[in-house]
Amino acid sequence: MLLLTWPLTQRRSTVFDLTIRPAIDADLTALVRSFGQVGFFSDRLRRQRQGRGMLLIALRGAIPVGNVYVWWEPAEEPELRERLPGVPLLTHLEVHPHHRNRGIGTALIREAEDVLRRRGHRRVALGVDVRNVDAQRLYTRLDYTEWPYPPVRVPEETFQIFVKSLVDMPIKHA
Ligand SMILES: CC(C)(COP(=O)(O)OP(=O)(O)OC[C@H]1O[C@@H](n2cnc3c(N)ncnc32)[C@H](O)[C@@H]1OP(=O)(O)O)[C@@H](O)C(=O)NCCC(=O)NCCS
Repeated sequence: MLLLTWPLTQRRSTVFDLTIRPAIDADLTALVRSFGQVGFFSDRLRRQRQGRGMLLIALRGAIPVGNVYVWWEPAEEPELRERLPGVPLLTHLEVHPHHRNRGIGTALIREAEDVLRRRGHRRVALGVDVRNVDAQRLYTRLDYTEWPYPPVRVPEETFQIFVKSLVDMPIKHA
């Protein structure tokens, strides 16, 4: 099991005692208490049990303060399956509003990237709402670049796709 606890120094503040690890079924109640979305988390825990992805959670003490789901089964969107075949996705990155801007989102992304490097993936992608310029700034800072194709439209949102190479960074072993 992957379990990381470290003092995390970021640009604005220091987060001590942040643990990032894959969620387990017993985390569901605490996750829903922090973020709601019982259907979403139940589904992602089921997919994780089936080996289809990984739900990473960030905890301060016993309280979930962030999460990201690493999606490595074929993408649902045809454009992604066609243009980025086999490339895993970071999805549903979320940090509780009371804990934002302290580096927790960055730590979740970095941990997800290390998980994917250990699985042998050479690239990672994600979709971000075209209006979410704050999140886009975070991804750009972490070396994600926009793909050279139009945004992807789903019924209620339009996503710009960002891609990052994972091969120029050394693999961090757990
Ligand atoms: C995006 C998000 C996960 C970042 O988590 P975080 O712990 O605050 O991230 P970090 O502290 O590592 O980095 C801070 C950066 O996040 C971005 N950010 C901050 N608040 C944000 C918000 N409300 N929405 C989107 N991005 C935000 C900014 O780029 C910020 O850096 P800057 O303003 O100094 O340039 C968090 O803000 C969040 O949950 N937002 C709402 C959900 C969301 O937009 N998810 C992304 C979907 S693609």
